[in-house]
Amino acid sequence: MQELKGKTALVSGGGRGIGRAIVEKLAADGALVAINYAGNRSAAEAALKAVTGAGGEGFLVQAKIGEAGAIEHLVETVITEFEHRTGRAQLDILVNNIGGGEHATIATETEAHFDWVMSNNVRGPFFLTQALLPYLADGGRIVNISSAASRLAGVTFISYSMAKAAVEMFTRVLAKDLGKRGITVNSVAPGYCTGETNQEVEGNPELARQIEQNTLLGRFGHPTDIADIVHALIAPPGRWLTGQNIEASGGFNF
Ligand SMILES: NC(=O)c1ccc[n+]([C@@H]2O[C@H](COP(=O)([O-])OP(=O)(O)OC[C@H]3O[C@@H](n4cnc5c(N)ncnc54)[C@H](OP(=O)(O)O)[C@@H]3O)[C@@H](O)[C@H]2O)c1
Repeated sequence: MQELKGKTALVSGGGRGIGRAIVEKLAADGALVAINYAGNRSAAEAALKAVTGAGGEGFLVQAKIGEAGAIEHLVETVITEFEHRTGRAQLDILVNNIGGGEHATIATETEAHFDWVMSNNVRGPFFLTQALLPYLADGGRIVNISSAASRLAGVTFISYSMAKAAVEMFTRVLAKDLGKRGITVNSVAPGYCTGETNQEVEGNPELARQIEQNTLLGRFGHPTDIADIVHALIAPPGRWLTGQNIEASGGFNF
């Protein structure tokens, strides 16, 4: 049985990486998924093809969150398409997945990189959620993607650690605010995952070994490991969990 049949979902940054795995998982369980991406059309098309190829339903929305007018365009397009396809101008599931950040210490950080990290991890998800509030269905679900970096307080990724700590506080405040509408809000914090983002780390045998040795389960995460946890929070069995951060890192630097 498909547990998300009849539900609408939006995954920001769903064209590649962890976002794509979340898109595929939600669509496979019956949700109609809006797949947002910044500019890599062919990657997004491949994600949509994977969804439809598996019998699921989705559509693409290009919008580089952070650019002027992007959130307004994204929300209008997504809600109009949902209404057209389902007769309901409502969003049941929001996954705030965009984020990311490069290595920098307090000494090497630049204002431009700091601002980008804050925009992609904090400002973008914050104002996207704000813009979607009128359309969020009562009893809905929000999952914000954080990172184990918030716990690790990494010297070499200071602004990223700070930004993800903000994501987790955003989660808690939002859970308090939206609980009265039956909306659950949680965050999922991955550790190192395989994929383009960590290509350099994976390609460096010494670094890769260090990460594997410092992970209780002895390997990198796979985007599907994260997608399964996100799905568990969204599907009916996750109904009583809200305001929580779930670290899905296989026990990295535990
Ligand atoms: N990968 C990891 O090991 C890891 C670990 C911990 C936490 N995380 C977190 O997990 C999330 C996903 O990471 P990832 O590594 O899977 O990312 P990724 O592979 O870099 O995925 C990026 C996706 O997000 C889209 N995107 C990026 N910035 C965007 C923007 N401003 N507006 C709209 N779309 C945007 C990209 O679009 P285009 O394809 O068009 O560029 C692409 O679809 C992030 O929040 C990250 O901080 C990742």
